[in-house]
Amino acid sequence: MSIEQLAETALAMVAPGKGIIAIDESTGTIAKRFAGVGIENTEENRRAYRELLLSTPKLNEYISGAILFDETIRQSTKDGVPFAKFMSDNGMIPGIKVDKGTHALAGFPGEVVTEGLDGLRARLEEYYKLGARFAKWRAVINIGDDVPSGTCIEANAHALARYAALCQEQGLVPMVEPEVIMDGNHDIETCYEVSEVTLRALFDALYNQNVALEGTILKASMVLPGKDCDEQASVDEVAEATLMCLKSAVPAILPGIVFLSGGQSDDDATAHLDAMNRMGPNPWPLSFSYGRAMQSAALKLWSQDLTGNYASAQATVYERAKANGLAALGQWTRG
Ligand code: 13P
Repeated sequence: MSIEQLAETALAMVAPGKGIIAIDESTGTIAKRFAGVGIENTEENRRAYRELLLSTPKLNEYISGAILFDETIRQSTKDGVPFAKFMSDNGMIPGIKVDKGTHALAGFPGEVVTEGLDGLRARLEEYYKLGARFAKWRAVINIGDDVPSGTCIEANAHALARYAALCQEQGLVPMVEPEVIMDGNHDIETCYEVSEVTLRALFDALYNQNVALEGTILKASMVLPGKDCDEQASVDEVAEATLMCLKSAVPAILPGIVFLSGGQSDDDATAHLDAMNRMGPNPWPLSFSYGRAMQSAALKLWSQDLTGNYASAQATVYERAKANGLAALGQWTRG
């Protein structure tokens, strides 16, 4: 696999006015989302729900690709078409979550490190054969008293870079995700400092592991005050802080940056992305890779009547995709 091919995939992921839908919830995480709306967490319900999302009519107008979970990339539509093939046939790039989740970082209470490097080369080889063309790994950086430590940031950056190098070796574009978590009462300045030091450590580590940035996508968190902070920030303040932080730490050669929603409301996630693009031109395309902010409304609707609300739930997915696609161009209008 050449760097040119990886770069081509990366650019297609952030094509103008398009973004990614993240539907890679692990079985444990989707259990929580289903429990929230009273859906039983069976394999068939998970399959049917992912089919609902992926087969939303005209989804490819605003969605370039989707991140799948291991179980999902092995599943098919009710007509027997494997989801990865269904996506490619419909002009969307299949992606796959390849990390194995977070584990307590020994010696550092309150901090976690993402695992999943053991055996990763063989797993990537299989995912490529199953149709995946990009792969996501999420690191989690918490903010709290004396947290994050430099050790936690370094350990996570190192793992992200090792995974990214393996992805490129196996022909998959790495989507590197260092998520700075919104929980806590910290202010926006603290989030800025933590995000900046985390991104600098990440790009150092990617450089040290010979990762080609032209074939890499960053999945970033926005610079926000903690959920419990008394002083919340305006849309423009979040957009300005996030842009400044990214400009100070992310090389311009990167083909694109997509954001996670991280627990923001649907409207906030869209408004922040839109504001950043209105403030452009920026060094990279800025788009979305939302999970909850793409799905929550549709999941709620579907849960109320699995057959009766199928089409209206899909219409909701389409509306969220359209709003975020317009925000990726700085052309969204509220309401
Ligand atoms: P949220 O947009 O719900 O934060 O999910 C995105 C994601 O993939 C987190 O890893």
